[in-house]
Amino acid sequence: MTTQYQPPQESVIRLMTRLALQHDAVNLSQGITDEPAVYEMIWAGLAASLGGTDARMDRLETLTLKDICDAQGSDPEAFLNRPLKNILAGLQDESDRFNQYSFPFGLPELREAIADYTHQFYDYRPDPDDQITVTAGATEALSSVLRALCAPGDGLIIFQPFHEMYPSQANLFGLRPTYVTLKENHSAGRWEMDRDELKGAAANNCRAIILNSPHNPTGKVFSKDELEFISSLCIEHDLLLITDEIYEHILYGDHTHYCMATFDGMAERTIIINSISKTANASGWRVGWVLSPPEFTQPIRGVHDTLVVQAPTPLQKGAERLLRLDKTFYRNIHPLFQQKRDALVTALQSIGFQATPPDGSYYLFANYRNVPALKDLAPMDAAMYLIQEIGVASVPGDNFYNKGDDGNNYLRFSFCRRLQTLEEATKRLRMLDHEAPH
Ligand SMILES: Cc1ncc(COP(=O)(O)O)c(C=O)c1O
Repeated sequence: MTTQYQPPQESVIRLMTRLALQHDAVNLSQGITDEPAVYEMIWAGLAASLGGTDARMDRLETLTLKDICDAQGSDPEAFLNRPLKNILAGLQDESDRFNQYSFPFGLPELREAIADYTHQFYDYRPDPDDQITVTAGATEALSSVLRALCAPGDGLIIFQPFHEMYPSQANLFGLRPTYVTLKENHSAGRWEMDRDELKGAAANNCRAIILNSPHNPTGKVFSKDELEFISSLCIEHDLLLITDEIYEHILYGDHTHYCMATFDGMAERTIIINSISKTANASGWRVGWVLSPPEFTQPIRGVHDTLVVQAPTPLQKGAERLLRLDKTFYRNIHPLFQQKRDALVTALQSIGFQATPPDGSYYLFANYRNVPALKDLAPMDAAMYLIQEIGVASVPGDNFYNKGDDGNNYLRFSFCRRLQTLEEATKRLRMLDHEAPH
């Protein structure tokens, strides 16, 4: 049985960003940072596009201004007054490789880097030849996986609250979603999975489960015990597990991210999607990847090739440099986010929001029903009030739910912005203290 196809709507998250711009609000809606992207990656992407070949990229790596000045036969004084753009124009190679089409499924050197990168953190090294597909971000990765491995009418288990692309892509591909609701246990300070609900859903003739940990929007990091439970259901009911791991390095306290392909019986049924969007502050680059068991890789590559051909070649060179950075770079990503998380949690709680501090990712899913100015408003009205009257953009909680009314109590705030930006947002949010109920 297929579900009724609905033409896709504009993403509510991206709509809130548009409204934030329109009303000059501090944008805590979409997960867009205003921090700089990782320089090593930017440099390698630039050098690839400018140089065009590996040899010229290598040369650019060590080239000094004096070398260029000498090569261009300029007098140093005149050289220093030349626009950078004109100087760089002389650095292109005569032959070009990196501004052209490359292998649809990813440059071999990037696939090697993805394999080594994965292996640094987990006891798992996917084979670059037949287990890795480079995609245009995690979004396209998921589309290619769903289109390649699921047939219209297949059941797909989605935890709610969810990232909106899961149900919208399920709809696009005619899949039949079953929603399993995570519940906030406020006194225990965590979001919980209802094992019986998941068990019932898994027994209901499904093809796959989508799991996102660390989770957007709740910040839940699924525990090893929960993951073992999920894997036992996958094995019992012969389900695929699609894991969205784009926040794998954004973890707080002693929380750990596990690679489920290493769990007993899971290597042959786990498909991992990931991207550089969050790890490198580079969501605009659109570079991601899929790690899949070999027998699934060809169909995934076929869909990917048909949809987008390939991720941009120079940006793949930048991503390769990023993934070759030392492990300590990745281990040092979370402390700044922790500072931001603590600042926003403290500010929101002091205004009356109930917010379970996230264990991972960079979102705060906050219950606003105790905030006098917002308590009687529907989520979209509360979000509009914050944008128009307070000058802060969030995302209405019901956007993350399909069934039930749990979402009607929440707003999602993203804390990936610079500390100064968050300070401005919290200063504005404190005005809520003086606002009368609506
Ligand atoms: C859970 C989750 N998956 C995927 C994406 C999109 O990733 P990408 O930019 O790599 O397409 C996001 C973006 O916010 C996300 O939160």
